[in-house]
Amino acid sequence: MMRAAVVTVSDRSFRGQRPDVIGPVLTALLEGAGAEVIETTVVPDDPAVIAQALIRLADEVRCELIVTTGGTGLSPRDTTPEATKQVIDKDVPGMAEAIRQESLKQTPFAMLSRGMVGVRGQTLILNFPGSPKAVKECFAVVEPVLAHAVKLLRDENPYADADHPCQPQHSLS
Ligand code: MTE
Repeated sequence: MMRAAVVTVSDRSFRGQRPDVIGPVLTALLEGAGAEVIETTVVPDDPAVIAQALIRLADEVRCELIVTTGGTGLSPRDTTPEATKQVIDKDVPGMAEAIRQESLKQTPFAMLSRGMVGVRGQTLILNFPGSPKAVKECFAVVEPVLAHAVKLLRDENPYADADHPCQPQHSLS
């Protein structure tokens, strides 16, 4: 089972001015994909606080998957990608590109999301935009590769299944 966490980035939800409706949506999606959601948290649009939450969830809580929602756009307080960039060791541009590419089929506004995907230690961190619709659409894009990504991060052999499309062809003859 993948250990996961959900981070809702929203000043208004953090202040209690708006209920966090997206956190529960993401939690249900992750659980439906076979993840155990260890923690859900709401943080303000403050890059230092976002970064601190990501570091804690990765290094102390040892989550294998952290999905953030919100703060990926262009408004002055949107800093989730900057906070993420600050804490990751590796960028995973293909996943962010896939999310944007597929999201553009849903709405042209997808090009306004600057969401990143990256790895910190053995934790995959994904930035999703801040609406239930966007979260569902973005999750559908990455869901097929999440378990494989986590196996790679655990350094398990993800090719154990001989029929897997990534199965290397060891042809020595
Ligand atoms: N991506 C998908 N798949 N579906 C959406 O509805 N909304 C967009 C975009 N990405 C959207 C999406 C909108 S309207 C914005 S402004 C940006 O994400 C940034 O959203 P955020 O600031 O809430 O993170």
